[in-house]
Amino acid sequence: MRRITALVICLCTTLLAPAREPQSFFRDSDLILCGSYYYPEQWPEEQWGRDLKRMAELGFEFTHFGEFAWSAMEPEEGRFDFAWLDKAVETAASVGLKVIMCTPTATPPAWLTHKHPDIAVVTDSGRALEHGGRQHASWSSDIYRTYVERVVAALAERYGRNPAVIGWQIDNEPSHYSYTYDHSENAQRSFRRWLREKYGTIEELNRVWGTSFWSLAYNDFEQIRIPNQKTLAGTANPHSVLDYKRCTADEAAAFIDFQCEVLRRSIDPSQWITTNTMPGCSAVDPARMQGPDFACYTRYLVNGRYAGHGEQGFRISKPELLGWNNDYYRSLRGVSGVMEIQPGQVNWGKFNPQPYPGAVRLWMYHIFAGGNRFVCHYRFRQPLRGSEQYHYGTLSADGVTPSLGGREIVRFNREIAELRRSWRPGAKLPKRLRDLRTAILVNPDNRWDMEFQPLTDQWSTSAHLDKYYNIAKRAGAPTDIIGEEHDFDRYPVIIAPAYELADSQLIARWERYVRRGGHLILTCRTAQKDRTGALWEARPSEPIYALAGIDDMWFDHLPRNRQGKVSFDGRTYGWNNWADVLTPSPEAEVWARYDDQFYAGKAAVVHRRAGRGSVTYIGADTDDGRLEYAVLRRIYSSLGEPFDLPEGVVVEWRDGFWVGLNYTSDTQLLPIPDGARILIGSAELAPAEVAVWRQ
Ligand code: GAL
Repeated sequence: MRRITALVICLCTTLLAPAREPQSFFRDSDLILCGSYYYPEQWPEEQWGRDLKRMAELGFEFTHFGEFAWSAMEPEEGRFDFAWLDKAVETAASVGLKVIMCTPTATPPAWLTHKHPDIAVVTDSGRALEHGGRQHASWSSDIYRTYVERVVAALAERYGRNPAVIGWQIDNEPSHYSYTYDHSENAQRSFRRWLREKYGTIEELNRVWGTSFWSLAYNDFEQIRIPNQKTLAGTANPHSVLDYKRCTADEAAAFIDFQCEVLRRSIDPSQWITTNTMPGCSAVDPARMQGPDFACYTRYLVNGRYAGHGEQGFRISKPELLGWNNDYYRSLRGVSGVMEIQPGQVNWGKFNPQPYPGAVRLWMYHIFAGGNRFVCHYRFRQPLRGSEQYHYGTLSADGVTPSLGGREIVRFNREIAELRRSWRPGAKLPKRLRDLRTAILVNPDNRWDMEFQPLTDQWSTSAHLDKYYNIAKRAGAPTDIIGEEHDFDRYPVIIAPAYELADSQLIARWERYVRRGGHLILTCRTAQKDRTGALWEARPSEPIYALAGIDDMWFDHLPRNRQGKVSFDGRTYGWNNWADVLTPSPEAEVWARYDDQFYAGKAAVVHRRAGRGSVTYIGADTDDGRLEYAVLRRIYSSLGEPFDLPEGVVVEWRDGFWVGLNYTSDTQLLPIPDGARILIGSAELAPAEVAVWRQ
């Protein structure tokens, strides 16, 4: 019933809502707006004026309130207190700061979880999450949603017409953290409802899931439980796992869209709505969220997890973290921003190094270069108490002195104000870059299915995707990360890495794209399965044989400590993760061959020209990516003049500004042409340094 009501509400609002063009919320001439998180509820009221004034003085233009303040907004059930928040908004406005207002639903208050323990998320071990953390309420709980609706509606009525409030953030990093999936009875019911809607009859579900295998067949939807590897002997049914992941992502999206609908009942259309998702969280798919005006992301770059490039790389991070997110989130609706970025050391990492001097400013420029319309720093003041003690703020624990990273942020704020003066309307992407425009095609289904069936412990979908992304960026290719809803013809190059689930319509679209002049790159594992996750009743990946110029294939793996050999263009490369061993069709060219194992001489990379374009199938997956780099370089060189940037060096173009970034531990020379006007930095870039130029 709830779903039907939600659908009706959703349809009505879609019909009633004005067409919203996210671009119109931001002025191009502002380039990027800078803001910082502030928690009035965590500081004595007497300090708000001083703090917010200081924020404005340091060059910030907006602040961010409320995402964890439910217990302050509604201290007891049904008793709302917004007087404090009114005062905080007024104080911000009085010093010229705009406000992003948040719905506080990530932190249900103690009175709510105590009264309704049933709203808790339950882990796969059967443990109900307790009050004391955050993100512990189930999106599938009707009771929780009733309370959510009430607090969100109250906030919207209160601030929906306040001119200081520019936009809304729904929830905070919607997810259940630590990759927790919800196994509560609410989620179980919701999963069954989702399956019923999808399959209609239990017979159809039994057919698609292949439940004759191991006698899993169900008589009724009511018998179905969320697949849980902790309570099953033997491996779960892969189709049930895939459906459960799809269902969870739909549930998260429905939760966000539901809050959007509640907000839109009262807010002024000039206020935008977004939510900040975590790119690494595979339970959530921002592309499914239809309510927000645009999506934005949060990213933490130095926390002991990323080795980066060279000796100091662990303090600088690696460029694909911000790069991929910029190119993915911006591509969803054409507009995006970064809702959280660390201003320095964090407290929750594997270990918590100080970022390299300059790294915080480097990230800001990467965020700018990636087309974002705003960046918000997490957080303004270092907390004295609570779970994130030791987490740096822009200001240190004294509440007045900028921290190490804080000083870099202040410098960036100043520099952006300068750059705005050199902005000119109507800048066009230079031809050299236009020729290289690349899309990376993704679908979370592929990742979910391969996550569950990696087949080798060396398989990492994200490493595979990052490898191809980095190759495109080293060529200097402007890159969008897109889904199948996008227009393929805008891109001279499309890479569809490990696109495991496909159907005949997609394959026909690929063929059309190629005939019209596109260059399609497919990699190992592509089209092994249909969209239900079943293998084809055919030879492995046979539906793409005609497209890719293949007559037969099978795959192989090697032990971790062994390298197989592949030769391409007179050079030998090592592979070890995955090898699709290919028999080319007569119209394909063989570009690379395996040099050893019992299949020495068989094809590893084949290339087929078709119409005005081409398809290249790269069957070998290497650790170091050198083979893939050489293959893609051949393609890019046939299209124009690719760059050949060292790993860890980034060159981007935005609004007429070229931006060069050095994520490596060594000094690097940027390809800045003679006659270019350098606005910031120089062609010779020290580690974590930045240059901006016009040419
Ligand atoms: C984010 C989260 C913030 C804060 C931050 C600390 O993931 O959204 O609320 O906890 O981490 O680094």
